Amino acid sequence: MRAVVCTRYGGPEVLEFREQVMPTPGPDEVLVRLRATTVTSADWRIRTLSMPRGFGAIARLVFGLHGPRQPILGSELSGDVVAVGAKVSRFKPGDAVFAFTGARLGCHVEYRCLAQDDAIALKPPGLSYEQAAALGFGGATMLDFFRRAGLKAGEKILVNGASGAVGTAAVQLAKHAGARVTGVCSRANADLVKSLGAEQVIDYTARDFTEAGATYDVIVDTAGTAPFARCAPVLAAGGRLLLVLADLPALAAAPWHSLRSGQRVIAGPAAERTDYAEQLRGLAAIGAFVPVVDRTYPFDAIRAAHAWVAQGHKRGNIAIRIEPDEGHGNEVR
Ligand SMILES: NC(=O)c1ccc[n+]([C@@H]2O[C@H](COP(=O)([O-])OP(=O)(O)OC[C@H]3O[C@@H](n4cnc5c(N)ncnc54)[C@H](OP(=O)(O)O)[C@@H]3O)[C@@H](O)[C@H]2O)c1
Repeated sequence: MRAVVCTRYGGPEVLEFREQVMPTPGPDEVLVRLRATTVTSADWRIRTLSMPRGFGAIARLVFGLHGPRQPILGSELSGDVVAVGAKVSRFKPGDAVFAFTGARLGCHVEYRCLAQDDAIALKPPGLSYEQAAALGFGGATMLDFFRRAGLKAGEKILVNGASGAVGTAAVQLAKHAGARVTGVCSRANADLVKSLGAEQVIDYTARDFTEAGATYDVIVDTAGTAPFARCAPVLAAGGRLLLVLADLPALAAAPWHSLRSGQRVIAGPAAERTDYAEQLRGLAAIGAFVPVVDRTYPFDAIRAAHAWVAQGHKRGNIAIRIEPDEGHGNEVR
């Protein structure tokens, strides 16, 4: 089977296709033939070792000194179960599924084994393979941050960076929770963010959201431009600031700000809980969370997908179609 490997840090040209031994499922595992995967902002960060301020040296220790220790990137997939181990009861061959592997990565492949109790669930019937592959990265991240923040119906929430993978998930999940959502994005993405459930949209290129005269119970920052000092004046008493993208100084200062201000700063990596897969399946099945897919690239064009993600302005998610299915006009090479 083919896999995309990344053995050194650098531009998209470091990605190479390699033939790999076909995996065989263990007793508790399923073998999935991939139909789609994604290229996420995390894949770009690991490929280039571009980390938020202060995390460079730590990242080299965690991910590998000269190149990724796990050379196969990709943390999301969808596809069809083609074989199951003897002890597998949750899935059977022929099931369409989606999964996310988090920091274990390894999804830029044609076939992948997963334990039946990993973050894997049946593909919601109304979603394409490309949409289903994109459920986990933004969806699980925001389920976790909202769980930690205790987001409640009726609260006012602002999502800074509302048009990316995490932001589009944040807007939809907050709306579903009954919150009143304001999105911050560039003008080009205003209609998209409104269509996902935002009551108001602020164009960050034209207006500073902290000067719009409103306060919020919850602020989510996926863009790294809304630190505590900037948000504190527009965060309600008892409000929560969710720093999805935080540099090391902001992460270190979060407990201190929480102690001193009566507002809470929640930062750091989202917990990787396997039950989020079932939650996301349920939310997608009722139309409460449908991942936004900006572009779909064929597997052979994964370098071009990485190059687009690196721009930092994708709308939602970038999908990779694995099964050869040439001739569709909307593919980008
Ligand atoms: N803590 C965690 O566990 C966790 C989990 C997942 C991701 N992350 C991090 O979260 C960040 C976002 O990830 P993503 O995948 O959503 O990225 P993305 O898809 O690239 O989206 C980034 C968005 O930020 C917007 N943006 C850029 N500059 C902005 C500004 N000055 N003000 C407001 N918005 C701005 C862009 O919108 P426009 O195109 O409209 O400018 C873009 O849509 C990444 O840095 C990632 O590493 C952290």
